[in-house]
Amino acid sequence: MSKKKIGIVVGSLRKGAFSQSVANYVASILPSDYEAKFVDLNGVDLFNQDLEGNPPASWTRLREDLKSVDAYLFFTPEHNRSIPAVLKNALDVGSRPYGESVWGGKPAGVVSVSPGGLAGFGANHHLRQVLSFLDIHPLQQPEAYIGSVHTLLNENGEVVNEDTQKHLQAYVAAFEKWVEKF
Ligand SMILES: Cc1cc2nc3c(=O)[nH]c(=O)nc-3n(C[C@H](O)[C@H](O)[C@H](O)COP(=O)(O)O)c2cc1C
Repeated sequence: MSKKKIGIVVGSLRKGAFSQSVANYVASILPSDYEAKFVDLNGVDLFNQDLEGNPPASWTRLREDLKSVDAYLFFTPEHNRSIPAVLKNALDVGSRPYGESVWGGKPAGVVSVSPGGLAGFGANHHLRQVLSFLDIHPLQQPEAYIGSVHTLLNENGEVVNEDTQKHLQAYVAAFEKWVEKF
C-alpha cells in the first residue's frame, strides 16, 4: 500500500528557524505508513494577480507540491500577532486562479511556535481563519502551541525537552486519527 503523503509547511525561511526544528521533530515521529514531504517556500514569488495568465515557475512548482499531498501540517511562527508573510503568500498562491485552488478538502494540523510565552496564539488562530476559507480542515483538539521554544532545543536545534516530545507525540497520534477520518 502506498504511503500517505503529509505536506509539511513551515512559515519561516530563517536558517535555524525554531519552527523548522519543531517540524523536523514531528516529521521524524510520523507513523511508518506516512511520508513527510517538506514544501519549500524559498523563492516563491510574491502573489501578483497580473501574473496569473503566465505564472512564475515558482508558483507552478508550489502548486504541484501542494496538490501531491494527502494532508498538511503547518508550523507557523508569529509575526506581529499573525502569520508570517511567507506563509500567507503560499496560502494565496495555492488558492488561485479563482476556482482552481489546490488546497481544498484536505485535513491538516496547526502548530504555532515562538520563543515567547504566548506561543504564537495569534498566528495559530489567524491561520485557522484562512484555512476555513480555503476549505482545509484543521484538527481542533488537541491544539499545539509551542512557547519558549528556544529552551526546548539542544545546540543542534533538536527538540530534546521530554515533555514537549510527549506533547507532540500525542498531537501526532490525534492527527493520525483525524487524517484517517477523511
Ligand atoms: C517581524 C517580526 C515580528 C514578530 N512578531 C512576533 C509576535 O507577534 N509574537 C511572537 O511571539 N514573536 C514575534 N516575533 C519573534 C519571533 O517569534 C522569532 O523571530 C522567531 O524566532 C521566529 O520563528 P522562526 O525561528 O521559526 O523563524 C517576531 C519576529 C519578527 C521578525
